[in-house]
This record gives sequence, C-alpha cells and structure tokens, in this order.
Amino acid sequence: MATHDDVSTHYTSGDLLARLNAALREDGADPGAPTMADLAPYDQFHGRGLEATEEIAGFMPARATDHILDVGSGIGGPARFFAHRFGCRVTGIDLTDEFCEVARHFTQLLGLDRQVDFHVGDALAMPFPDAHFEGAYSMNVSMNVADKAGFYREMHRCLKPRAWLVLSEIAKGDGDDPDYPTPWASTAKTSFLSTPEQTRRGLEEAGFEVVRLVSTREAALAFGARSRELVARGEKPPHRAVMLIHGGRAREAMANTARALADGRLDPIEVLCRRRA
Ligand SMILES: C[S@@+](CC[C@H](N)C(=O)[O-])C[C@H]1O[C@@H](n2cnc3c(N)ncnc32)[C@H](O)[C@@H]1O
Repeated sequence: MATHDDVSTHYTSGDLLARLNAALREDGADPGAPTMADLAPYDQFHGRGLEATEEIAGFMPARATDHILDVGSGIGGPARFFAHRFGCRVTGIDLTDEFCEVARHFTQLLGLDRQVDFHVGDALAMPFPDAHFEGAYSMNVSMNVADKAGFYREMHRCLKPRAWLVLSEIAKGDGDDPDYPTPWASTAKTSFLSTPEQTRRGLEEAGFEVVRLVSTREAALAFGARSRELVARGEKPPHRAVMLIHGGRAREAMANTARALADGRLDPIEVLCRRRA
C-alpha cells in the first residue's frame, strides 16, 4: 500500500530551489526577479506545460471575484498563472513540503502573495470549510491518488453548490500500465490510473455533472514531436519541469511516457464539471 510519504519522496530532492535558480541563471534570467515567462518552462509541472495551462484557461469559467482551490499545486505555476489571468484568489494545497516552499518563494517574488497562498496537506483531508470555493482545479495529480472516490468527494465538499471543477489528468488507455519510472511515479506502487470512463463515473457518483471530457492525446503526441525536433537542433524544449524536478531520472521517465502515449496505453484528458446543487 502506497503512503503519502512514498509520493512526496518521489517529488522531493532537497535542493529544488537552488537548481531552479541555477536553471534561470543559465537561461539569462535573474533568479531574484524572475518574470512569469522566465519560470514557465519549469513551474508548469504537467503534460505540455504552459501550453496545457493556457488551453485550460480557455474553458475555465473563473471570475475575478472567485476564490479557487488548486488541489496538488506543485511549485505553483498554474496557481500564479490563473490568479494573474483572471484576477482571482487561488489557494493551493500539496503533499510535498519542498514544492510548497518553492511555490511561496516565487509567488512572493512575483508580488502575487496577497492573491495566492499554499498549504502543505492531503487532497483527501483538506483543511478548508464546506462549500468554501467558487471553483477548483487539479492538474496531473489524481495519478498519485488511490482513493479516487475520496478525492472527488473531498473536492465536492469544499466547493459551493454549482461551483465548477476542472481536471487534467493522465488517464489509462488501452493495454497495460506504462513502464516506470514516469514523471509522477518511480514505480507502480504510487501510480493509480483510471480510464476516462471510470473518471466520468467517479465524478458523477461524487455529485458532479460532467460538462466536457476530451482526450488531449493527439496534442500531447504533437507537443512531444515538436520538443524532440527542438532538442535535435540543439535548442531547449519549451517544457523543462520534469528535467528540473527529476534530474538524472527524467530522461527515462519521459521516454516511458512518450512510448505509452504513442501506443495508446496512456490517454491524457481534460474535464470540466459542475457540482450539483
Ligand atoms: C505532477 S505534479 C503536478 C503539480 C501541479 N499540479 C502542476 O501542474 O504544476 C503532482 C503533484 O501532486 C501532489 N500530490 C500527489 N498526491 C497528493 C495528495 N494526496 N494530496 C496533495 N497533493 C498531492 C504532488 O506532491 C505533486 O506536487
């Protein structure tokens, strides 16, 4: 049985801030005063990075008056992006202590700390009152969560009636699990993939109405091909979060994911739902 420690150990290095600062310096950015664009290759820790975040902003029904919950907020790139884009408040929660520290650091440097805050905690038992948020999202987190019913139930509890929920996750396609490591799990012990249909059913059973559920597999394959072309030309790929966070293990994790995407074992999806009243 996987523990939360297994999950946060997978994501913790102990020197993430130092390595991110070094990466920014190497890119010609000032680690003491980075822009959102400087951070974007590193702080969007999900498939297709900033491209996926921008796509999600296109259908996320957020308003400036909303207080939004980010479940599994990582180092805070999506929270800062949506807060900046919509002018709303965002509260993130994440199991990995080091990610929350790095998230707070860059949020403060960007002057967004009155709008965006981060808590260390578990998505299955969040320290927020019932019916508190106007909207919630979770990007590439559910793959680490065995208790999907509990995951959906807890987001449902924290949302107001008719509030919206956006999920982006890597769903199970046809055939076996991917080979490990992947960016989200060193071994199968901390990887729990659902099919798109299981995701839809789980959300409906938890009290959500699924408004939109689309596969982004084609976009993921195209993004991978474009990134590999850039690397072959000696340029940096646009999405460097996996390399930053996993260092030496990243290459194998990315190759395993690319193979499973290509042969259909993985199927990334985006979902928009509404909490039933
Ligand atoms: C692949 S990262 C995605 C981070 C962020 N959502 C993003 O897109 O940049 C997965 C994140 O989920 C967090 N996570 C996994 N299981 C969790 C749980 N039960 N409760 C809270 N966070 C969790 C991990 O610590 C990690 O930060």
